[in-house]
Amino acid sequence: MAPAFSSILIATELLFLFALAQGQASPRQPIQPASTVVPNNSPAGAPLFKGETIQLTDRVVESLANAPSTAEYADLFAFDDGSGLNSTRRKGFCKTYPGDQNWPSDRAWHVFDSLLDGALIPTVPLAAPCYNSKWGPMDPQKCGHITARFNSPYLHEDDPTSIMFPIYQGRTCMPGNTGNCTLGGFPEYAVNATNVAQIQLALNFARNNDLRLVVKNTGHCYLGKSSGGGALSIWMHNNKQIDFLPEYEGDSYSGPAMKLGSGVTVVEVYAAAEKYGVSALGGISPSVGYAGGYFAGGGHTPLAGLYGMAADHVMAIRLVTADGRFITASEKSHPDLYWALRGGGGGTYGVVTSIVIRVLPKVPVTTAAFSFQSSKNVSKEAFWLAVRKYYELHIPFTDAGTYSFYFIFNQNETKDGELNFDMRSFFAPNHTIESFSALTKPWFDTLKDLGIPWTTKPNQTYFESYYPAYMSSWGHRLFPVGTVKTMAGNRLLPRGHFQDEAKFNATFEVLKQHVANGFHLGGYHQAPRNRANADNAVSTAWRETVSFLIFGSRPVPDNATVVDMKAATDELTDRILKPWRDVAPPNEGGGSYLNEAAVMEPEWQHSFYGLQYERMLGVKRKWDHRGVFYGTTAVGSEEWEVRDGDRGVQTQDGRLCRVSR
Ligand SMILES: Cc1cc2nc3c(=O)[nH]c(=O)nc-3n(C[C@H](O)[C@H](O)[C@H](O)COP(=O)(O)OP(=O)(O)OC[C@H]3O[C@@H](n4cnc5c(N)ncnc54)[C@H](O)[C@@H]3O)c2cc1C
Ligand SMILES: *[C@@H]1O[C@H](CO)[C@@H](O)[C@H](O)[C@H]1NC(C)=O
Ligand SMILES: *[C@@H]1O[C@H](CO)[C@@H](O)[C@H](O)[C@H]1NC(C)=O
Ligand SMILES: *[C@@H]1O[C@H](CO)[C@@H](O)[C@H](O)[C@H]1NC(C)=O
Ligand SMILES: *[C@@H]1O[C@H](CO)[C@@H](O)[C@H](O)[C@H]1NC(C)=O
Ligand SMILES: *[C@@H]1O[C@H](CO)[C@@H](O)[C@H](O)[C@H]1NC(C)=O
Ligand SMILES: *[C@@H]1O[C@H](CO)[C@@H](O)[C@H](O)[C@H]1NC(C)=O
Ligand SMILES: *[C@@H]1O[C@H](CO)[C@@H](O)[C@H](O)[C@H]1NC(C)=O
Ligand SMILES: *[C@@H]1O[C@H](CO)[C@@H](O)[C@H](O)[C@H]1NC(C)=O
Ligand SMILES: *[C@@H]1O[C@H](CO)[C@@H](O)[C@H](O)[C@H]1NC(C)=O
Repeated sequence: MAPAFSSILIATELLFLFALAQGQASPRQPIQPASTVVPNNSPAGAPLFKGETIQLTDRVVESLANAPSTAEYADLFAFDDGSGLNSTRRKGFCKTYPGDQNWPSDRAWHVFDSLLDGALIPTVPLAAPCYNSKWGPMDPQKCGHITARFNSPYLHEDDPTSIMFPIYQGRTCMPGNTGNCTLGGFPEYAVNATNVAQIQLALNFARNNDLRLVVKNTGHCYLGKSSGGGALSIWMHNNKQIDFLPEYEGDSYSGPAMKLGSGVTVVEVYAAAEKYGVSALGGISPSVGYAGGYFAGGGHTPLAGLYGMAADHVMAIRLVTADGRFITASEKSHPDLYWALRGGGGGTYGVVTSIVIRVLPKVPVTTAAFSFQSSKNVSKEAFWLAVRKYYELHIPFTDAGTYSFYFIFNQNETKDGELNFDMRSFFAPNHTIESFSALTKPWFDTLKDLGIPWTTKPNQTYFESYYPAYMSSWGHRLFPVGTVKTMAGNRLLPRGHFQDEAKFNATFEVLKQHVANGFHLGGYHQAPRNRANADNAVSTAWRETVSFLIFGSRPVPDNATVVDMKAATDELTDRILKPWRDVAPPNEGGGSYLNEAAVMEPEWQHSFYGLQYERMLGVKRKWDHRGVFYGTTAVGSEEWEVRDGDRGVQTQDGRLCRVSR
């Protein structure tokens, strides 16, 4: 870094020369990075990555106190010794915000950057070239490039602070040049962390200065958890190492495994698994961060029907905890943390540097895409009977280990309200074309009996392994982000609702009404039961699920007013999601997947985290008693609020304070 700092540096040097000329100071030594290389002693069965051997130790911190150039600042980088706890626990306490008296001085930031070996990046909003702003004049050519790619996840992944759902950064500096280009809900600085020492320095600096802390990997989060106004962010994207461990020996598992750096994405894991002739669990969006938010939230996967959730196959986790210490969490090492990290949500208990996942045998897959719709020849009644048959078959379909992703569209504006069922991929691992056809026959026969023609005929295809099946189904196209104008919400529907006829009818009525009201939905049939018999924090609702439905709010344009935004939020909460909450409440096995959820979901604790929420809260309070980690709707976040004024939806553009109530 950092252009902004060179002038500070020059000013500092001038002062220093002035002091020297007055005979008042000894020459300042250049500040060296604060780190040491520790022996690679392979805790929990897997060698450390190179970046994990570069650490901050008590000795290094002591040396800061002894060097004249850093002595004054050494306390800011000290590990947590447990003192001064009360001041930050008082009600109404706010994290230090830019402009506050306690905000670190420019010199402190400079020392921090030097200790980080230059990894500190002052935030420049991604689309700043689209504006005349404090970051420089408008640059139409650069702006054009950014605008053209703004819906690509990779543009946002490669940026230290950009996130994929701009509503939560307060829609500042949008590429369409609507409004202003300010920092808004973006963090002030990001640390481009590629070793453990940098993460430890950042955590210690944030904690000792009472700064808000954010952890960003890809920026995929649907709720804005990877951004935060006035914060210091730790950016984990550049940790891309993958090690294949054919003979891993862990606490509770021996066999083939992979060790993943925290910046590795889902598709990178799939490609590596294919290369080594094994399968790995992952989600459907190729660009999602695997060892960041995905596994931390549980991680549903097209192999759920054989193996459960991705978190069930995480055997060890390396992380830096709120006190600044680098540890291993596994069955035998800090088992409470190991339990909570697998399903209890990202950015809550520590900064993960790597995980070890169990990999699974190569598996063949049969897939098919198809669609049908109502039309002049196909009544809506017939359409719904065909859809009903599909839901009636959810139990046999999930018992056969299959998974799907489909849409039901009400083509309200475009096609006279005709309804469309679009199966993007019916994904059948360990199935041949023959067994796939036998499984789907009762459904497809029903369509025939109802006289419903295919809009797109099923293209059953058999693949020798997971990777090509995945690439054909989802991997070749990216889900658009950045320009998406709707807010998400979802519901997990339990198996019991598909066994009890009255509950089934009630559930199906909600579905029909939802579509009749003019809304779409994206759905999955899947049953990630606890097939690996894992004891972890994955929501109890997931264990019951046979249907997972995702909804969206009415689109809100980038220039939407607070009133428009509030109307869309309220409609999502009260009109779209409420009937689903009512039909599948937590005490009947219903819930909502925390990773793809509505940020304004009421009573999110049990909807997102299931029956184990209180246990997670206990782990959170033990390991982060000062509240270093915060994410909206994360475990323990009910003790905090982001004071963003009135935005019509909870954004991250505001001061983070303890609730005063
Ligand atoms: C288009 C799309 C498709 C999706 N498909 C699926 C799917 O098929 N299955 C599924 O289960 N989910 C899916 N998701 C949800 C996805 O799993 C979550 O959005 C997940 O949180 C993304 O994690 P990330 O690290 O990529 O994103 P980020 O936004 O960077 O981070 C998400 C959260 O994890 C925290 N975090 C990130 N890195 C670290 C770290 N190293 N240590 C500690 N905390 C960290 C952040 O602080 C934040 O709270 C999808 C999301 C999108 C947008
Ligand atoms: C901290 O708070 C606890 C309980 O609220 C109180 O008993 C203790 O005296 C406080 N300590 C300090 C140093 O203020
Ligand atoms: C942009 O900022 C200026 C100055 O703060 C303010 O007057 C104006 O209303 C802002 N415009 C928008 C669209 O937010
Ligand atoms: C982040 O750090 C890596 C490793 O040092 C470097 O290659 C990369 O260019 C840095 N990225 C930015 C945006 O500074
Ligand atoms: C409806 O059915 C008729 C007769 O079978 C056929 O000619 C026509 O193409 C069909 N229309 C649609 C929209 O499917
Ligand atoms: C579309 O939906 C709206 C709102 O539900 C409704 O008023 C309108 O009649 C619908 N239009 C069609 C063509 O179905
Ligand atoms: C795949 O199917 C075969 C034969 O039906 C069965 O023996 C095997 O256990 C299945 N594999 C998995 C991973 O379920
Ligand atoms: C099946 O069809 C869908 C589109 O309808 C397509 O995306 C997919 O790639 C096809 N699969 C194969 C294996 O051809
Ligand atoms: C459920 O709905 C079906 C079809 O409408 C109906 O035949 C059946 O009687 C209903 N069952 C119950 C228990 O309501
Ligand atoms: C938002 O932009 C659209 C199109 O650019 C415009 O028609 C509308 O009036 C704007 N709304 C507000 C509230 O500025």
